[in-house]
Amino acid sequence: MPSDPVLTLAGISKSFPGVRALSDVGFSLYPGQVTALIGENGAGKSTIVKTLTGIYLPDEGSLTVGQEAKHFSSPRDAWAAGIAAIHQETVMFDELTVAENIFTGHMPGGTLIDWAEARRRTAALLKRIDADFKPETKLKRLSVAQQHMVEIARALSHEAKVIIMDEPTAALSSHEIQELFRIVDQLKAEGHAILFISHKFDEIFRVSDRWVCLRDGEKVGEGLTRDVREPDLVRLMVGRPVDQIFPKRALTIGETVLEVEGLSNATEFEDIGFTLRRREILGFYGLVGAGRSEVMQCLFGMSRPTRGRVTLEGRPFVAKAPADAIAAGIAYVPEDRQHQGAVLPLGIRENTTLASLGAHVRYGFLSRNSERAATRMLGTRLAVKAAHWEQRLGELSGGNQQKVVIAKWLATKPKVVILDEPTKGIDVGSKAAVHDFIGELAEDGLAVILVSSELPEVMGLADRIIVMHEGQMVTAVTRGGPGWSAEAIVAAATGADHQAVAA
Ligand SMILES: Nc1ncnc2c1ncn2[C@@H]1O[C@H](COP(=O)(O)OP(=O)(O)OP(=O)(O)O)[C@@H](O)[C@H]1O
Ligand SMILES: [Mg+2]
Repeated sequence: MPSDPVLTLAGISKSFPGVRALSDVGFSLYPGQVTALIGENGAGKSTIVKTLTGIYLPDEGSLTVGQEAKHFSSPRDAWAAGIAAIHQETVMFDELTVAENIFTGHMPGGTLIDWAEARRRTAALLKRIDADFKPETKLKRLSVAQQHMVEIARALSHEAKVIIMDEPTAALSSHEIQELFRIVDQLKAEGHAILFISHKFDEIFRVSDRWVCLRDGEKVGEGLTRDVREPDLVRLMVGRPVDQIFPKRALTIGETVLEVEGLSNATEFEDIGFTLRRREILGFYGLVGAGRSEVMQCLFGMSRPTRGRVTLEGRPFVAKAPADAIAAGIAYVPEDRQHQGAVLPLGIRENTTLASLGAHVRYGFLSRNSERAATRMLGTRLAVKAAHWEQRLGELSGGNQQKVVIAKWLATKPKVVILDEPTKGIDVGSKAAVHDFIGELAEDGLAVILVSSELPEVMGLADRIIVMHEGQMVTAVTRGGPGWSAEAIVAAATGADHQAVAA
C-alpha cells in the first residue's frame, strides 16, 4: 500500500435546489493507483469531479493536496494544484489545433505565445502516449478517442498529479478502449493518481486498484478491487440485488411492418435487407464503425440511400427528412444523445413531449395535464431520477439526460422504434428497467430495432440478430436457432466468419 495520499477529500457536501448531491463524502487518491468511483446515475460522481476541478464550490468540507489544505475557487486553481480531468462532456475547442487546445491558458513563455515551442512540446507529449496525429491538426478532425488523448496530453503538459476520467470509454470502440487502458497503465507506472468513472464492470475490474461507491450522494463503501466481486458492488450501488438479465417475454410475433431491400449508400453500407414484424425485437450487432448507425439514420431520413427500397406497412416509403419518418411512425433514439436529442435549457416535461406535442392538444390548446401524465409515466418507467418533472434537463446527471431523450421518442407512440445503444452511460439498475420497458413495448405491438455493441443486451432481448461487419450484413441468427451463440456472433462481427452469409 503506498503510504501518503496525493489528494484527500473530507466531509464534502454540496446541495442544489431540491437535491443534496453530496453529503459528507470523504476518500483519498494514491500515487500510482487507479481508484474507480462508482454509483447509479445521479449518485454524485460528476459532482465530485466538478468539485475537484474547481467548477463547483462545495458547501462544506475540505480538500488536501499533498500536505496542503486547498480551496479551489476556479478551474484555474485546481489546474495549478495539479488536478486535470477528462469530463463527461468535452470542454475543448473544435476549431483550434491540438497544440492550441493543450497550451491555451498556460503558454510556454508566459503571456507571449511561443507557438514553435508549444508545437514542439505537443509533439513530445503525443509521442509519450503513442498518439498518431499531429500538433497542427484541428480538434474537429479527430475521433472521440483521439480527443481524449489530447486531454490526457494536456494533463501531462502540466505534470498533473491527479488525472480524472469521467466515463472516458462511453464513445470508444473496443480497440480504442484497450488503447486507453494501455495509457492508464503507463500513467500509473509514472506515479500519477487516477480517478476513473465507468458504469461497465469489466472496465472497473480491468483498470482499478481501489473503488469508492456513492449512493444518493453518500459514500456507502470503499475497498480494494481484488477483494470484491461484481454482485457485491451492484448491491452497494443500487441498494438491492439486481437481476441483470430479464427473462425474455414469450410473444407471438405479428405481421410485417417494415421491409428493407438492397439498401446501400456510397461509402458506409451496402445491400442491407431485412423484414421487421410487430412485437418483434430485431438486434443489430457489430463493432463500432460497422455501419449500423448509418443504416438507421438513413431509414430515419437523416441521409439518402443511393440504392434500395423500403416498404412500410405494405406501401413504398421514402424519408426525405426525419419529419417524414416521424409522421410515418418511425422513431429513432440516436446514439449521440447529447448532440442529437437533448435540449438542455428546457425542462424534463418539455423535452419529453417535444416530438409529440400534437398528442397533447385538447380543443386547440396544449394540455399541460396530458403532458404531465405522459412525462410522469415514461419518466417513472425509465427510472429517471430528478427533483421534479419540470427540472431543467441540463441540471440532470448525464445518464438521466439520456433516459429523457429515450422517453421523448417513445412518447411519439411510434410503430417502429430504433434504439441506438439505448443503455450506454446508464447504470446497472436503470438498465434493467430500460430492458424491461423495451420488452413491454414489444408486447404492446411495437416493432423494435435494437442497435447495441453489448452482446448480453442483444442476446437477452432480441428475437433475431443481424450481424454487420464493415458495412455489410455478414449473418442473421434466430433465437434458439443455428449460430445463436456468443462465440459465433462475435466471430461474425469481427469478420472471422465471412462465409456464413445471411440465414
Ligand atoms: N447544476 C446542477 N443543478 C441542479 N442539480 C444538479 C446540478 N448538477 C448536478 N445536479 C444534481 O446532482 C445529482 C448528482 O448528479 P451527478 O451529475 O453528480 O451524477 P452522476 O453520478 O455523475 O450520474 P451519471 O452516472 O448519470 O453521470 C443529481 O441529482 C443531479 O440532478
Ligand atoms: Mg456523471
